[in-house]
Amino acid sequence: MKIMIIGNGGREHAIAWKVRKDDSSADIFCAPGNAGTASIGQNVNIAADDVSGIVKWAAENKPDLVIVGPEVPLCGGVVDALSEIGVKAFGPCAAAARLEGSKSFAKEIMNAAAVPTARCRIVRTPQEAQEAVSEFGIPVVLKADGLAAGKGVFVCQNQAEAAEAIDALLVTKSFGDSACDVVVEEYIDGEEASILAFVDGERIVPLASAQDHKRLKNRDEGPNTGGMGAYSPTPAVTDDMTAVVQHRILEPVVMELKKRGIDYKGILYAGIMLTENGPRVLEFNCRFGDPETQVILPRMESPLVNAMFACIDGSLSADMVRWRPDPCVCVVMVSGGYPGKYDKGMPIHGLDEAARIEGVQVFHAGTKLANTEVVSDGGRVLGVTAVGPVLKDTVANAYRAVLKIKFDGAEYRTDIAYRALEHAKDNENEN
Ligand code: AMP
Ligand code: GLY
Repeated sequence: MKIMIIGNGGREHAIAWKVRKDDSSADIFCAPGNAGTASIGQNVNIAADDVSGIVKWAAENKPDLVIVGPEVPLCGGVVDALSEIGVKAFGPCAAAARLEGSKSFAKEIMNAAAVPTARCRIVRTPQEAQEAVSEFGIPVVLKADGLAAGKGVFVCQNQAEAAEAIDALLVTKSFGDSACDVVVEEYIDGEEASILAFVDGERIVPLASAQDHKRLKNRDEGPNTGGMGAYSPTPAVTDDMTAVVQHRILEPVVMELKKRGIDYKGILYAGIMLTENGPRVLEFNCRFGDPETQVILPRMESPLVNAMFACIDGSLSADMVRWRPDPCVCVVMVSGGYPGKYDKGMPIHGLDEAARIEGVQVFHAGTKLANTEVVSDGGRVLGVTAVGPVLKDTVANAYRAVLKIKFDGAEYRTDIAYRALEHAKDNENEN
């Protein structure tokens, strides 16, 4: 089986690792990949957002399946273009990927399908934005409508922050065309969780729950990042909660799209706020999360590619997706200075030693090979992942592995999975 994976992050290394684990003889290609994917298959020098380059490669090489990691090529229509030349591709078509690509479209679909989410107004001028801010009151949230690499959301705790957000989005236009439209929405309070599901156009099968740590510093403080770590399962997301999210959120959205002639196939990722009044949607993503994937796939017992083909063919069923009960934890090691300016090209040592620790798998994110040496090549460099039967030991193993790995300027949080650990401790005390 010939599989092409699009992307170059920790998510794509985890996907390649799982495909290899399921099928030792698969031919795996990654565009453009990183040093981790190079150790599993072959990297191809095509950028993840180069849709025509990907289609050209697929036309020549005829893969059995293309798995698309990031949102930019999905919103850019890579799945549509591959389908046109008869190549099966996992991920939504561009019309369905708009759920992530346009926050106002996502709101329109949610409102039409009566899906619980924050009240909002879509605005285009600073004056309209200020009126909406006054309507909802402080705190308030402003979001660029389009893709902004995770940076277009402003959670404003006072008027001055709201004014700054309005300025960045609608006056200096730091987000360009992504913020032609701006979503102003009411602030909602609660604990956040990610719920991802396979979707085949109609049927929905949720994945194991996961939670990421977005903030740079311990106890979820400091600036937002692409994700400093993750763990699965999350105690906050019970089976009952997953069922509520499936029936009240994911199904109505997929059905509303279907009514409009759009088949959603691929991963649908709902970013949820668990409020006193039940779950509310913060955002949709049209793809696997990063770093959530690094903790979800090591727990997946059934073959990944089978579920993906079933999504594409419209034959998905719950028995195709099975999970091991063991918890999984991923600690992200980042370059010094991230999420601001940072240096690249730092040699990374200790990877083999780290990988020898029980249950540990080191997923590469921003790495590349310089001759034969692995060097840093991005803000998020590695996702040091451990899986095992007891959460406390699993977290300890992940951190033992982190301590083996050295590169100049390396930083990481030391409290990944703290909520799950506190929950486990509470349960121990009760018993
Ligand atoms: P998003 O990309 O829409 O998920 O927003 C990024 C982050 O902003 C979320 O993970 C939340 O922490 C926060 N956020 C987004 N929308 C809201 C909201 N309506 N109320 C409170 N926090 C929010
Ligand atoms: N972990 C958040 C995301 O993938 O967007």
